[in-house]
Amino acid sequence: MAERRIGIIVNGATGRMGYRQHLVRSLLAIQEQGGVELADGDRLVPDLLLVGRNEEKLRGVAEKHGLLNWTTDVDEALANDDYEVYFDALVTNLRVENLKKAIAAGKAIYTEKPTAETFEDALELARLATEHGTVNGVVHDKLYLPGLLKLRRLLEGGFFGEILSVRGEFGYWVYEGDWQAAQRPSWNYRSEDGGGIVADMFPHWNYVIEELFGRIEDVYAQTATHIGTRWDEKGEEYTATADDAAYGIFRLEGGTVVQMNSSWDVRVHRDELVEFQVDGTKGSAVVGLHGAHIQPREATPKPVWNPDVKDPHNYYDDWIEVPDNEPFDNGFKVQWEDFLRHYAEGRAYPYDFLSGARGVRLAEAGLTSAAEGRRVSLDPLTEA
Ligand SMILES: NC(=O)c1ccc[n+]([C@@H]2O[C@H](COP(=O)([O-])OP(=O)(O)OC[C@H]3O[C@@H](n4cnc5c(N)ncnc54)[C@H](O)[C@@H]3O)[C@@H](O)[C@H]2O)c1
Repeated sequence: MAERRIGIIVNGATGRMGYRQHLVRSLLAIQEQGGVELADGDRLVPDLLLVGRNEEKLRGVAEKHGLLNWTTDVDEALANDDYEVYFDALVTNLRVENLKKAIAAGKAIYTEKPTAETFEDALELARLATEHGTVNGVVHDKLYLPGLLKLRRLLEGGFFGEILSVRGEFGYWVYEGDWQAAQRPSWNYRSEDGGGIVADMFPHWNYVIEELFGRIEDVYAQTATHIGTRWDEKGEEYTATADDAAYGIFRLEGGTVVQMNSSWDVRVHRDELVEFQVDGTKGSAVVGLHGAHIQPREATPKPVWNPDVKDPHNYYDDWIEVPDNEPFDNGFKVQWEDFLRHYAEGRAYPYDFLSGARGVRLAEAGLTSAAEGRRVSLDPLTEA
């Protein structure tokens, strides 16, 4: 059993996602555990080259974690043959130009979502990757959450019977930034900078729905910019030009209806920041990031509508908690391990640029639907 080094360029290493989820919780954690085990018993150990625009911040991160290799020059990093994988966690509107450079440099690519701001660009990336034989992958982290892994277990066990509908509630209150600092970057609230909750969340909903419930045939969405003025990282007031809430209805092949509310302007009155209720003929489930509860048909109460009498029944008591039954690791890290195995061993990998492009297409279709007040149909998209 040998250790094999794998050189990975991490662009956007100082960003919110790049630093916390990808560098610290995934790549450094993988280094710490001695790498990723491959089928032949060898271990693939990441060797990192950090890239960022702010030298001081980047040096700070590198020093904090004992990393020697960093640069503010992405072209220099891409020209370095010691690093074969390029990872991108930059702000969305810089993604396409950087991914194109990485394709041209012959790197394997793993990237945050969305892969582009427009479907046209996302599809072009998928085409270019196919033409160049680029190994490619896109972050599909929600599928690796414990709650969604439990949901997958329920689906594979045939728990639901026919799935009739799925209702998802995602969101929390994001501070405007005047009285208390906002907990998300200000570009998220400016369309001209690649922001908007549709662009941010519909790519996630696309792969979650597609993978767990079926292909999306059409979408209807209502969007809103509920809060029109916010304050940025420097405390300066700005106009929020992007949608900060989206109310979407997705009809799936086979008839299941999925409704997703996504909002940065709601106060949480539920167990988790995202929750999906799945109702099937044989049973229902409510799953979140971590937890999952089920109610089988046989244990479903029979409520009778009577507004004159306060109902003494506690409906929460009718649900059964789904046990973990296995340890769950950080989802970003598990997906990194999958991607690295895919790269090293040539394993099949469904979460690629084409899947990323379908996600961008859903966002674009959602925005079109909201702007034009109509349902937008989506064809199957199986090749670039
Ligand atoms: N998978 C998920 O759950 C998830 C969650 C949040 C964000 N994201 C995605 O991750 C990406 C980054 O989001 P974030 O919240 O970490 O944002 P962020 O603003 O915290 O980080 C963005 C990074 O881009 C860099 N950057 C910004 N402008 C630049 C410029 N002009 N030149 C060079 N570098 C520049 C910043 O230095 C920083 O490293 C986005 O595409 C977002 O959609 C994914």
